[in-house]
Amino acid sequence: MQVVFKIVRQTENAAPRVESYSLEVEPGNTILDCLNRIKWEQDGTLAYRKNCRNTICGSCSMRINGRSALACKENVGSEVARFAPDAEVPEMMIAPLGNMPVIKDLVVDMSSFWANLKAVDPYVSTAARQVPEREFLQSPAERDKLNQTGNCIMCGACYSECNAREVNPNFVGPHALAKAYRMVADSRDDSTIDRLEKYNEGTSGVWGCTRCYYCNSVCPMEVAPMDQIGKIKNEILDSETVDESRSIRHRRALINLVKQGGWIDERQFGLKVVANNFRDLQGLSSLVPLGLRMIGRRKFPFGFEKSEGTKTVRSLIESVQAFEAQSKS
Ligand code: SF4
Ligand code: SF4
Ligand code: FES
Repeated sequence: MQVVFKIVRQTENAAPRVESYSLEVEPGNTILDCLNRIKWEQDGTLAYRKNCRNTICGSCSMRINGRSALACKENVGSEVARFAPDAEVPEMMIAPLGNMPVIKDLVVDMSSFWANLKAVDPYVSTAARQVPEREFLQSPAERDKLNQTGNCIMCGACYSECNAREVNPNFVGPHALAKAYRMVADSRDDSTIDRLEKYNEGTSGVWGCTRCYYCNSVCPMEVAPMDQIGKIKNEILDSETVDESRSIRHRRALINLVKQGGWIDERQFGLKVVANNFRDLQGLSSLVPLGLRMIGRRKFPFGFEKSEGTKTVRSLIESVQAFEAQSKS
């Protein structure tokens, strides 16, 4: 089968350009096989990362037809079936990962990716414990909790697609938070409270995630970073020692107000979350300009009417809460 590979080429600080390479390939050839042939047979200047060729090292991550994936995992046949099933000469669009600057062609500078991983303290801490004579033992059930996050090969596909990372340079990213959950879940680690405090901070940790699901959908190892972020959020919400942040108040106020009125009473929401029930005077004063603007535009809700479906909504929330409490016990 004849296929045209359209590859985004770029050198640092220069404008990207697209170059096309035509190849005769088999459907079972991986995208990496094809890039190797382009480099060896047509253009030795093409730059990309690779190593294991077997979905293990995470080096060959790139954007293949618009989504971040491993070049050694995806093959031509499935890409054609998905994106160009009727094309006489199908085209493959190959581009570098997003959210990281390009060094050359498909090679990106992953410094921020590694720095953000380091920022979550991705090492088991046993500092406050007596080190046993031989080793810290875990039961099979305790070890099982680490399997999913332990599968991460640090390929960067999730980081490349992360919407939160794109707009918030402080957000550490899905790979780092998946690793963070691995540490929280590790029975040998003795820093859970410190970790939860750290991951609870502002929008650099779990509350920075916009829950777009992209990380879950592109991860080649089924780590499901967004699910791990959700588990950390639950640990934070359940913790009695972690300081109540604005994000926690946001979550609790939202649920309580919807339980009370079937939908959100916006007048109370700001006061509970931003002003912390009149305890945060700075937060309270920050609401004044917004309130005045809303009044000026006749959008301030002076009254509140409960939803007709309040009872149903409340019983739904209570059922979910009872289910959650039961599954934790
Ligand atoms: S779900 Fe959250 S962490 Fe995952 S890609 Fe979206 S914003 Fe990023
Ligand atoms: S979580 Fe998945 S997509 Fe993200 S770095 Fe790890 S293996 Fe890659
Ligand atoms: S070359 Fe190692 S994961 Fe693709």
